[in-house]
Amino acid sequence: MIDLIIKNGTIITASESYLADLAIRGGKIVTIGQGLEHPGAETVDALGKYVLPGAIDAHVHLETPVGAAVSADTYETGTLAAACGGVTTVFDFAVQGKGQGLVEAVEERVKIFKPQACVDFAFHTAITDLTPAVLAEFEKSVTYGVPSFKLYMVYKDLMVDDGVLADALEKSKESGALIAVHAENPALIERRTQRLLAAGKTSAWYHYESRPEFVEAEAIKRAIHLAKAFNAPLYIVHLACKEGLAEVTKARDEGYKIYAETCPQYLNFTNEVYQRKDGRNFVCSPPIKGQESQDALWDGIRRGDIQTVATDHCPFQSFEKDWGKDDFTKIPNGCMGIENLYPYMLGAANRGKLSFNKAVEICATNPAKIFGCAPEKGTIAVGSDADIVIYDPAKKVTISQQNMHSAVDYTIWEGVTLTGYPVLTFSRGQLVYKEGQFVGQPGWGKFVKCRGRNELSN
Ligand code: URP
Ligand code: ZN
Ligand code: ZN
Repeated sequence: MIDLIIKNGTIITASESYLADLAIRGGKIVTIGQGLEHPGAETVDALGKYVLPGAIDAHVHLETPVGAAVSADTYETGTLAAACGGVTTVFDFAVQGKGQGLVEAVEERVKIFKPQACVDFAFHTAITDLTPAVLAEFEKSVTYGVPSFKLYMVYKDLMVDDGVLADALEKSKESGALIAVHAENPALIERRTQRLLAAGKTSAWYHYESRPEFVEAEAIKRAIHLAKAFNAPLYIVHLACKEGLAEVTKARDEGYKIYAETCPQYLNFTNEVYQRKDGRNFVCSPPIKGQESQDALWDGIRRGDIQTVATDHCPFQSFEKDWGKDDFTKIPNGCMGIENLYPYMLGAANRGKLSFNKAVEICATNPAKIFGCAPEKGTIAVGSDADIVIYDPAKKVTISQQNMHSAVDYTIWEGVTLTGYPVLTFSRGQLVYKEGQFVGQPGWGKFVKCRGRNELSN
């Protein structure tokens, strides 16, 4: 018995665009063909629309304590907003407590996530305490279904030093894990910050000045240098600068498996936002850089040196951002975007900035391959999960806090108009979003266990 037929749409994958119908049974795509009919099946007519795999947001921080604040979206509101933006899988970060095991850290999060999740979810672990026992646990975590570990090269309570990063890279090689880094140089940030504050330079602009392009680039170069030394794969999260990207390109040209992710906020805004009255709302780390970097990031996407776009969704309420109105170091770091990722990147495709196939590749197919959940996730193929977005290329939407679904009281995307917008989102064949409304159920989302050894060739 077929449950659902999606007819007459243009199917877009990372490699092809073609007119066909889809038949879905038990949450899976079972047939792709012409003129599909099935009595009793629900039918959706997608004539004039694009039929895309649901996006994977490979970088979100839901309900995450950061200093005195907790990121504003709960698992429920964050995954609900995701569904409304065509994201059908999110990767959240389980932050390892000091002395805690890796799998234990994830299981703690799964317990809270499960009853709330409106779409499917997976995890990376943020390693903060790489003891010998934790190193020995890499294989167990890979087998368990969480093969990717983020290491922070900055942030007092989270950061690891170069020795720890080297150990993790070396161990990842033999265990099938993938190391990801937040790359900025903490010593440079500290010195620059002290000088700026001493000079009374306290506005949001100085968040950027405290950690400009070279501060990020130096750490990216260092991390890549170590990855090369061990011939270990490395994933650079939220890459935002031209010079760091050049190092990624060089290493990839030499044949190393270095992957890079950037974020929509780096592609749409420049550091000028920090001069705005609401500049503190854009404070995230690494900060949004200058125009040259933005242009380089788009080139990097088109060339294939940036493989994924994810959001780093980590919003804070206005009153929390206001803590830093007289001192940029007190602004909680993070921006929103979980609902904006796919509409923004598809909108860019719609205005010719990249192809629709490329948008699908970087928002869905590549993250599934890199993090080990392809081909169930990230594509439209027989046997894949029916995580599907129907996109109307003619629908115009102006983004506003009021028409978004996150729990935050503002959006950095306010007033941005997109031509083309998702109109329906299906999660494993279940309709979860329809024309501006969430129509799914908290608790529907499943924990996606991933496989180690990323599948993307260099
Ligand atoms: O400013 C940011 N990016 N906040 C979220 C945590 C992180 O560094 O990814
Ligand atoms: Zn980070
Ligand atoms: Zn992050």
